[in-house]
Amino acid sequence: MTLPRPIKLLLSGFMLLLCFRQLSARPGGEPAFSGRMDAAAFSQPVAGMHKDAGLDFTLGRALFRRVWVTAPASTQTADGLGPLYSARSCAACHPNNGRGHPPGEDGDDAMSLLLRIDIPPQDENQRQALARHHINNVPEPTYGLQLQGFAIPGHRAEYRLAVSYEEIPLTLGDGSRVSLRKPDYTATVLGYGPLHPQARLSPRVAPQLIGLGLLEAVGEGEILAWEDPDDRNGDGISGRANRVWSPAEGKVALGRFGHKAGAANVDQQLQAAFSIDLGLSVPLYPLGAGDCSIRQLRCRAAPDGNSTQYQNLEAHKQVTDLVGFYVTHLAVPARRNAHAGDVLAGARIFRRLGCDSCHRAQFRTVSRSGTAAGYDREISPYTDLLLHDMGEGLADHRPEGLANGREWRTAPLWGVGLTPQVSGHSYFMHDGRARSLLEAILWHGGEAQAQRDAVASLERSEREQLLAFVESL
Ligand code: HEC
Ligand code: HEC
Repeated sequence: MTLPRPIKLLLSGFMLLLCFRQLSARPGGEPAFSGRMDAAAFSQPVAGMHKDAGLDFTLGRALFRRVWVTAPASTQTADGLGPLYSARSCAACHPNNGRGHPPGEDGDDAMSLLLRIDIPPQDENQRQALARHHINNVPEPTYGLQLQGFAIPGHRAEYRLAVSYEEIPLTLGDGSRVSLRKPDYTATVLGYGPLHPQARLSPRVAPQLIGLGLLEAVGEGEILAWEDPDDRNGDGISGRANRVWSPAEGKVALGRFGHKAGAANVDQQLQAAFSIDLGLSVPLYPLGAGDCSIRQLRCRAAPDGNSTQYQNLEAHKQVTDLVGFYVTHLAVPARRNAHAGDVLAGARIFRRLGCDSCHRAQFRTVSRSGTAAGYDREISPYTDLLLHDMGEGLADHRPEGLANGREWRTAPLWGVGLTPQVSGHSYFMHDGRARSLLEAILWHGGEAQAQRDAVASLERSEREQLLAFVESL
């Protein structure tokens, strides 16, 4: 069929535009990208913040890096750590705003891998609270919602993490050999007696913190439009949103943050981190003793750093707001080599295999008045923010809200290619078990089994193109 010339021109213009959008080299949208490619690549503020915002960003950064101390201390502003804690600062687990790592095979610091804990509901009250989304989990009666590996002087830490790995050798379609390491986590040296017989543990490594303000600014409707809980389109991929209690709004909201989308917004996630990871009281969780349970009496009774001068809290609202401002205004890095031949070929393979059914390439943020950086833009986070069954291999068997023990939130892929520069390693997935991007892909199962198998049987050249694309994000 021959088309009249003006229509042809129009069509080719349209195609060009489409290509351009697909290949957008700035996944955080035009003004949000950072041009750095070194260790500071995840530490840049989004462009276009209003003029007072720079100061808030700097103050927030200082608080994010602040090393908290035991109360009472001479400095009332930085005391209140613990009594139980998993780290002494936010930055300890999210160095350079990047991801954490599992403990080394030689048993070095386990700081950025933590173990969440819970038990199944024991009575009708607990079942109701879960069903109404008032809680995501029932705390383990002694140890609470997380095992803390550290305690202030005079108190016992809750546990020591022991990890062992089993190597699983694999041969790919083209004959090349890889090995996946399957982790086994145990809580040893328990400080407060045995765990509940039904206790469930979930290992988690701290994720990278870029582009969170943009993910928060995506409209609920846009996310829900992608849900396919009954797999109506028959592609084997179902995707559903988590539903969690949002204490700030006092209602059930869509879960977006955390490896199982267990937090409705960044503020909730970080206030929980202050309380559970650092043991500091905050407006949403005002208990000075953090995650100490009523069975940990000495821990409950320890002096806290709550001061009347600061809303009777250890980290008052101004502190949590500034930290929130900082982490929601970290720019997404610009892509590298986005237009190189192998990267473009890899992008086509990514789409052909259906990776983008979960690692969703396009979202539009809604405009949010009052925020520093103009939202209302196209972003490419490569996540749908939905939960997917990822198979038995990755399962933690610990539900969280609606997420069951095999489901995880699609990890955003923007910035992943800079992990070695920012974090000094290339450990991926929720617990850092994968030692490379290829291993990360080969761990996919469940709804992503078909994509994983397709990657395993790709020609070497195509596999390398796919990886070149992921590395360019
Ligand atoms: C002990 C290690 C540790 C500490 C300390 C820590 N985090 Fe995290 N952080 C994590 C882990 C692990 C997750 C994933 C949590 C989950 O799956 O629910 C996380 C998730 C987050 C997220 C959500 C990111 C996303 O993409 O969903 C934000 C935001 C965050 N942390 C901010 C902070 C802030 C701010 C602090 C300091 C108050 C802090 N974190 C302290 C380990 C830590
Ligand atoms: C069914 C949904 C789904 C499909 C399809 C899918 N993924 Fe994923 N992907 C996920 C989820 C969920 C995670 C997080 C899993 C975890 O942390 O254990 C993830 C994690 C990753 C990671 C590690 C990211 C990180 O931050 O640790 C990479 C890399 C990745 N996927 C690439 C791919 C590629 C390439 C394809 C296509 C071959 C693909 N994925 C297909 C859901 C999917």
